[in-house]
Amino acid sequence: LANPQWGGRFATGPAAIMAEINASIGFDQRLWRQDIRGSLAHAAMLARVGLLTAGEEKQIRDGLHDIAEEIASGTFEFSSALEDIHMNIEARLSDRIGEAGKRLHTARSRNDQVATDFRLWVRDAIDGIEAQINALMTSLATRAHAYAATPMPGFTHLQVAQPVTFGHHLLAYVEMLARDRGRLNDARARLNECPLGSAALAGTSFPIDRKFTAQELGFTRPTANSLDAVSDRDFALEYLSALSILAMHLSRLAEEIVIWCSAPFGFIRLSDAFTTGSSIMPQKRNPDAAELVRAKIGRITGDFIGLLTVMKGLPLAYAKDTQEDKEPVFDATEAATLSLAAMDGMIRDMTPDQGRMRELAGAGFSTATDLADWLVRVLRVPFRTAHHVTGRLVGMAEAKGCDLSDLTLDEMRGVEPGIDASIFSVLTVEASLASRTSEGGTAPINVECAARLWLERLEGDA
Ligand code: ARG
Repeated sequence: LANPQWGGRFATGPAAIMAEINASIGFDQRLWRQDIRGSLAHAAMLARVGLLTAGEEKQIRDGLHDIAEEIASGTFEFSSALEDIHMNIEARLSDRIGEAGKRLHTARSRNDQVATDFRLWVRDAIDGIEAQINALMTSLATRAHAYAATPMPGFTHLQVAQPVTFGHHLLAYVEMLARDRGRLNDARARLNECPLGSAALAGTSFPIDRKFTAQELGFTRPTANSLDAVSDRDFALEYLSALSILAMHLSRLAEEIVIWCSAPFGFIRLSDAFTTGSSIMPQKRNPDAAELVRAKIGRITGDFIGLLTVMKGLPLAYAKDTQEDKEPVFDATEAATLSLAAMDGMIRDMTPDQGRMRELAGAGFSTATDLADWLVRVLRVPFRTAHHVTGRLVGMAEAKGCDLSDLTLDEMRGVEPGIDASIFSVLTVEASLASRTSEGGTAPINVECAARLWLERLEGDA
């Protein structure tokens, strides 16, 4: 049987495999809310410009609301012979209300319809992801405030470098997430133009009011070029690229969580709710959620590259290739949503071992830079020379198997005669931390202030 929506010039229906490769209803039914929203706006516009009577428009509106209820309650029967969500809904509308339903597609093509639906879907998804990012930022900033003065080792090359505070470390991720949110916001502003009314590719001869539909659907304005509007998917690519960068940040934090909760580090303990056991080793507490968040970037970046590759080399205007835009976007959204929720749970529930972090914050001569800085500040030794002197003192302590602060004054004077007892005051972790008051530095007063500022801003955003 030929397709009832377009089969007029066809003698037979499609081959089974044609129908199978063509149908998108299996995945694009997720656009049903956006499709109905778009159709309601389109019908309202058609009535406004006199292409539908008020009565027809009301029939369409009521019919679409009933269909929305059928879909929401699970009684709607999706048909793959009707290819996609757009034709499933339109066919059902005509079943229910007859003639008026058949008028809905006036001055519209599935090409501008799907471009509109998909923009609406991505816009909704951005709003959801942004809300989740806000929640995670709030959890991180809340914990950063609580641990604003808690020392931990700061690393470069994953080697102990200088002491930092745990709060400072957590706030670094708040900054990254804020930029992720900004990227999504920028993408949202750029995508917020309405393709509806571009029709198949060239516009329409009907006297439509595109500003009206754009406004009805919360778009800033109609798209400016009908060819571009039906074939552009860079709004989806921008969204996926922003999600890829977000996933990269989450993957870094996840990796740190995996490291922190391993026994040799022992910086944090994840809650039972966010760990799993081993089927053979009874003692194990595995950070599976963190590992999965670390891994999700694989899918998300794959989704981005996948769609980018689909779009490469596509001639204007619409081509069926773009039907392949949806699954990567749905998949990446699901992965990002899960990752953000799992990360938020882990951050809220984790218990830092402050004693262990403090102990390791002072290990590995982490205050050596403070010693060098003292030589510069007090003895006015040039920094390069101070670096060299300090290096010799570190070598001496390492040979003795002690900390820098365990060297005697005489031992130190053997290397640099100007050193006096006041040097010991800069060799503690606490003194080192307190001294890092430069803007953006790790001093506890800075961190406490930065955490408070973020919490205030986040409350304002909510
Ligand atoms: N299911 C199609 C898609 O997702 C809808 C547009 C179909 N347009 C067409 N000319 N066949 O892209």
